[in-house]
Amino acid sequence: MGFAIGLLSIVSVATVVGAILIAIHDARGVAARGPDGIKLTAAEVHGRQLFAQTCATCHTLAAVHAIGRIGPNLDVLQPPASLVLYAIHNGFAQGHGQMPAGLYSGNDAQDIARFVGAVAGR
Ligand code: HEC
Repeated sequence: MGFAIGLLSIVSVATVVGAILIAIHDARGVAARGPDGIKLTAAEVHGRQLFAQTCATCHTLAAVHAIGRIGPNLDVLQPPASLVLYAIHNGFAQGHGQMPAGLYSGNDAQDIARFVGAVAGR
């Protein structure tokens, strides 16, 4: 009886550990892939997270399932990373448009720009 319980608990511990390992593996696999299975760098994955938090309310971008309608649809526009960076720093129309300037700066801004440049239109 003691043996059976011991065996059972070893089996259930192994099952839980296995499930956790599979979950970690899945999370990594999903995190590093964009639409069409394109590989994202760590910087682009970070940019995706920030985009989902801040930009998705106003912009459509299929890669993050964003359907914002206040700003232009980025899948249609397909802006290069340089234009995205410009828009993040300056807003649009030098702050006279509806997009606020300076939403992000430094590496955060770069990461979002790279991410959008890599996935827009995919
Ligand atoms: C409050 C809504 C809003 C948020 C938040 C927002 N945008 Fe915008 N965005 C706009 C609007 C509106 C425009 C069109 C120009 C304007 O009126 O400012 C625009 C323009 C742009 C453009 C340039 C489009 C062109 O005409 O060349 C890019 C690129 C862009 N946004 C990317 C982003 C990114 C990346 C973020 C997140 C850091 C973001 N936007 C956050 C509303 C927003």
